[in-house]
Amino acid sequence: MRVLGIETSCDETGVAVYDAVQGLMAHEVYSQIELHARYGGVVPELASRDHIRKLLPLVEATLDQAGLNPADLDGVAYTAGPGLIGALLVGSTVAEGLAMGWGIPAVPVHHLEAHLLTPMLEDPAPQLPFVALLVSGGHTMLVDVAEPGRYRILGQTLDDAAGEAFDKTAKLLGLPYPGGAALAELATRGQSARFDFPRPMLKKPGLDFSFSGLKTAVMMVVREREASPQGLTEEDRADIARSFEEAVVETLVKKSLRALDATGRKTIVVAGGVGANRSLREQLKSTLEAQGGEVFYPRPALCTDNGAMVAYAGFVRLQAGQVSDGEVRAQPRWELEELPALAG
Ligand code: KG4
Ligand code: ZN
Repeated sequence: MRVLGIETSCDETGVAVYDAVQGLMAHEVYSQIELHARYGGVVPELASRDHIRKLLPLVEATLDQAGLNPADLDGVAYTAGPGLIGALLVGSTVAEGLAMGWGIPAVPVHHLEAHLLTPMLEDPAPQLPFVALLVSGGHTMLVDVAEPGRYRILGQTLDDAAGEAFDKTAKLLGLPYPGGAALAELATRGQSARFDFPRPMLKKPGLDFSFSGLKTAVMMVVREREASPQGLTEEDRADIARSFEEAVVETLVKKSLRALDATGRKTIVVAGGVGANRSLREQLKSTLEAQGGEVFYPRPALCTDNGAMVAYAGFVRLQAGQVSDGEVRAQPRWELEELPALAG
């Protein structure tokens, strides 16, 4: 079974082919970051228009890269939500159209299911059950995954997502949007623990997150340094980035351990754009290994939005016979726990 996956829920156009035997055969991503950077965030209308321009050429390039014709495919999976409505509509309309034209099923996919199943594309793949730490620009949650299709949200952010906190802090430090990766880079030059930023929600029981207080704490330090006689120096910026990253990483690691305790699971998988953060990856790995647990991540390129994760989640749903009824499906809001279980 071979599935084409299409991702257009936000500012990446992603296309890939997943094959049940050969695994990932090809994957192409076109990022719109430059298009949105000057506005300091994603402009939905520009995102939709750019998906329209890029999607079909990217489908052709991906099939070429895999050495495949449409006749070699068994399904066309697409992100049907959650995401930006206009951006979603581009992917879903194209996917439903291609599937109809090629005489194969279309498969609507939930963006977060796609993220949290991504580590299954890697070798070694994690054994189920596991707890997924999903940390992206739009979401921060801990999810108990008993099996693909059965998800229980253990905790989630009450305000900003982890990626959003990275991006907003990066902006305060004068870095271009989306600043998560640039902030992490700046942090490598900073001194550890110079600023005592709050570890949000660690003192409270439970598995929810909150990052808006941390953002405010950073803002106050930035303002204070700006008002100092030296102003906000390069050293200050790097030290703030480092202390901020330490606060986020410690919070994510401790909550992940708490989630393992609460569920009795032994394995954490990390997914979503912030999962590309090197400090988070290293600290989760060393902490879990010290406790006899295991951690799995996708390669950094598959942490951020991509078509490979959609092709894989689409494959899982197609195998269960859960295909589109032919209607173009685009749902800006869609709860993960609403997903039907996989048959059998
Ligand atoms: O999963 P993703 O591509 O998009 C959403 O579905 O939201 O995640 C993008 C987020 C952005 O907030 C970006 O700044 C953040 O992931 N990000 C990082 C790193 N690379 C990307 N945050 C921290 N460290 C990184 N290395
Ligand atoms: Zn995403």
